[in-house]
Amino acid sequence: MGFLELAKARYSVRKFSDRPVEQEKLDRIIEAAMIAPTGKNSQAWRCYVLRSEEAMEKINGLSRCIFGAPMVLLFTYHTEEEWHNPLEEGIHSGVEDVSIVATHAMLEAWELGVGSIWVNYFPNTETERAFGLPENERSVLLMPIGYAAEGCVPSPHHSESRPVDELVKYL
Ligand SMILES: Cc1cc2nc3c(=O)[nH]c(=O)nc-3n(C[C@H](O)[C@H](O)[C@H](O)COP(=O)(O)O)c2cc1C
Repeated sequence: MGFLELAKARYSVRKFSDRPVEQEKLDRIIEAAMIAPTGKNSQAWRCYVLRSEEAMEKINGLSRCIFGAPMVLLFTYHTEEEWHNPLEEGIHSGVEDVSIVATHAMLEAWELGVGSIWVNYFPNTETERAFGLPENERSVLLMPIGYAAEGCVPSPHHSESRPVDELVKYL
């Protein structure tokens, strides 16, 4: 499958089966994440693989958006390692770094037949504390991943697209 076909086929999975994701597939997903570009190649991101019973119980208690996934990737960035733009106060790359890293992971997962969803609906600070993250790490997203359960279909939002001339301007 070419890249555009893969990107078009992917959708947010909101109903997972309890089938675990094989370690080899998880390794490939992590490999894809690791080759993503980051600001000045800072690689300021971190990924926590939540899959123990204890971790899953904790994350299910923190977010309503886990959707029965057997595993969740928690992506964070390190506030002292991210790239800071010297030309603009307050502009730094942490969230962008994590976003491209997580997108690589999401698309590689799809290529392997593994579904996922990007979840921002969780209490960031409480989650960081619950998992004992270092003080200088900020959480960005949760990514429940696993195999789609039978009957899982894309939400109607999946195919909604604004017209290209609203989104793209040629100057
Ligand atoms: C930054 C971001 C945050 C999101 N947060 C959530 C979330 O908290 N809960 C949820 O169910 N979906 C969440 N989504 C999934 C979007 O709703 C979904 O990607 C969008 O509706 C398009 O559907 P599709 O991914 O199936 O193409 C999020 C997506 C992004 C990119």
